[in-house]
Amino acid sequence: MKAVLIRNFGEPEEMYLGEHPKPTIASDEVLVKVKATALNRADTLQRRGKYPPPPGASSILGLEMSGVIEALGAEVTDWKIGDQVCGLLAGGGYAEYVTIHSQCLIAVPEGWSFEKAAAIPEVFLTAFQALNYLAKIKKGERILIHAGASGVGTAAIQLAKSFGASQIIVTASAGKHKLCKQLGADIAIDYRTQNFEEEVLQVTDNQGVDVIIDFLAAPYFQKNINSLATDGRMVMLALMGGFQVENLVLAKILIKRLHIMGSTLRARSLEYKINLTRDLMEFAMPRFESGELQPVIDSVFDWTEVVAAHQYMEANKNKGKIILKVS
Ligand SMILES: NC(=O)c1ccc[n+]([C@@H]2O[C@H](COP(=O)([O-])OP(=O)(O)OC[C@H]3O[C@@H](n4cnc5c(N)ncnc54)[C@H](OP(=O)(O)O)[C@@H]3O)[C@@H](O)[C@H]2O)c1
Repeated sequence: MKAVLIRNFGEPEEMYLGEHPKPTIASDEVLVKVKATALNRADTLQRRGKYPPPPGASSILGLEMSGVIEALGAEVTDWKIGDQVCGLLAGGGYAEYVTIHSQCLIAVPEGWSFEKAAAIPEVFLTAFQALNYLAKIKKGERILIHAGASGVGTAAIQLAKSFGASQIIVTASAGKHKLCKQLGADIAIDYRTQNFEEEVLQVTDNQGVDVIIDFLAAPYFQKNINSLATDGRMVMLALMGGFQVENLVLAKILIKRLHIMGSTLRARSLEYKINLTRDLMEFAMPRFESGELQPVIDSVFDWTEVVAAHQYMEANKNKGKIILKVS
């Protein structure tokens, strides 16, 4: 089959469309002919050799896909050949074919394109896990979502609204504020020119927020702690700003009884991913169909333009997902 391969770890130009053996299915898996995949930051790290795939996963890039079922494992009874599906992968999405456990599949919502469906799995599963499983957000709570216009951020804003958050605050560069507000953010802070801690305390009458979804880590850690309300929860999903903090004042973690959590979805067990997929779909599928929840697609590249797509992401130009059309 055709797949995006890497000559040597490094710059986007190291990727090329080449030949790779077609994967074979286990009895509980299906073979999907891929129609679209989507970029994730993890792909750019893996391309640089800084994020190896977990044991047993494909070495090909790509953490999600949409496509058509072409073959079923012997034990698979809940899907049929020809079904249109999408799903989260531990790797292998930048290819003509992937295998995936049948219970990790999501049906493509009625009337949706493959490009749109490929934008669901990674960001909605990640945001749902962070808000529901980890932060356990409740109706009426206030939330701060960093990188609000990132793929995960755009899903988190919409889910927070669906969960009944009373105030949704985001940080993003100024050109991305309009999108964040269209999705449901009440307040957008330009972290480049404003101090988000001061802004959060001002708009919450010095109460702080109940939940923070963070991707920046080190440079935001102290300010995040200062921005949380009593019994606040912070979920750290990435280390985009760095992982080492100096001169940290910890007192507020105790005084405010804070919960600081971290997670990576890719390393979770198969059982966890199956349960998460089921729980997200139960909550989100009717909302996808009604239009309450929508993946935000920034751009669609043909997979022959994968180099340009990675360059675009690494320049932080995207608002929402970058899709690769696989043909
Ligand atoms: N833990 C998990 O399970 C999990 C799952 C999925 C993704 N992630 C991680 O979550 C992060 C967001 O993923 P995504 O795919 O949603 O990202 P994305 O769509 O590429 O968006 C990232 C955005 O973050 C903002 N940003 C702010 N400070 C930044 C900095 N120092 N460096 C780079 N970007 C910065 C940029 O927007 P502005 O212009 O507004 O600054 C950028 O466009 C990534 O690090 C990804 O690896 C984690």
